[in-house]
Amino acid sequence: MKEVRQIGVIGAGVMGKGIVYQAAVQGFSVCLYDADPEALEQAIPQLESLVARQVKKERITSSEGEATLDRIQPADSLEALASCDFIIEAVVEDLEVKQKLFRQLDAIFPDEVVLATNTSAKSITEIAAVTSKPERVIGMHFFNPVHRMKLVEVVRGLQTSDPVVEQTLRVGRELGKETARIQERPGFATSRISALVGNEAFYMLMEGVGSAEEIDRAIKLGLNHPMGPFELGDLVGWDTRLKVLQYLHETLGEKFRPCPLLVQYVQAGRLGRKTRQGVYRYDEQGRRLQQ
Ligand code: NAI
Repeated sequence: MKEVRQIGVIGAGVMGKGIVYQAAVQGFSVCLYDADPEALEQAIPQLESLVARQVKKERITSSEGEATLDRIQPADSLEALASCDFIIEAVVEDLEVKQKLFRQLDAIFPDEVVLATNTSAKSITEIAAVTSKPERVIGMHFFNPVHRMKLVEVVRGLQTSDPVVEQTLRVGRELGKETARIQERPGFATSRISALVGNEAFYMLMEGVGSAEEIDRAIKLGLNHPMGPFELGDLVGWDTRLKVLQYLHETLGEKFRPCPLLVQYVQAGRLGRKTRQGVYRYDEQGRRLQQ
């Protein structure tokens, strides 16, 4: 397989930016594309502040920070990613949007370029099926925040080839991550559990089991979770959580039926940190405000 030096990331949202930072800090050249020019424009200053925070916390030196930013290039079209050796898609969690994009990618990139999707739960097989080379399509599921979370789930679709799995595991390690090899099922190993926990926490809130703070505190201290389910859902985004739950409800059944209160939060635009209000409220820097 082709040696990977330049990675193309598609989608400049929460995850795309995280993947771009992680790839650049590990020495890869990275091109970032988003269909929304505003999202792309905002991504660069946001990456600059992420780098500044990492320097301030002494996780990287200021010269490493500068070199990281130098390795990141915005791209104004998908075609502008054509020199990339490995593609990671991180656009919205919508099968049709992803399929349309993979059809375009299939036409642009030569056979040896792996097309990886960061989908949280959707079928790799269904995304791959719209391309002429389904064997090069694979799941590469990162976690939020990408620079802090150790794991990448490498998810094999029905037709993903062995060399593509090996290449993706290698790239995952070169990105400084631990990898888990997963066979495709809805929600893989992780989203299936985290969607269920976040949904159940909302049912508990609706039933008056406790306040969000009390439930989060109980889960953190009693079950030894590093974050409570509401803190985590605010970080992930309840819109993304809801899309995953709806898909798991369709594919795996009743136990994943989205809690009506969670649905209302999404309808109200209380999506989490990215809208500065989810279950909790946040300032512009993403710091939690007292309720
Ligand atoms: P987001 O909503 O923050 O960002 C999505 C970005 O994709 C937006 O900037 C949008 O303009 C762009 N976009 C939409 N359609 C596009 C297209 N056709 N071409 C190029 N760009 C397009 O979403 P987020 O949270 O970053 O999620 C992205 C993917 O990563 C989803 O599949 C999600 O399920 C997955 N994921 C999300 C996690 C999270 O914690 N938010 C964790 C792990 C995976």
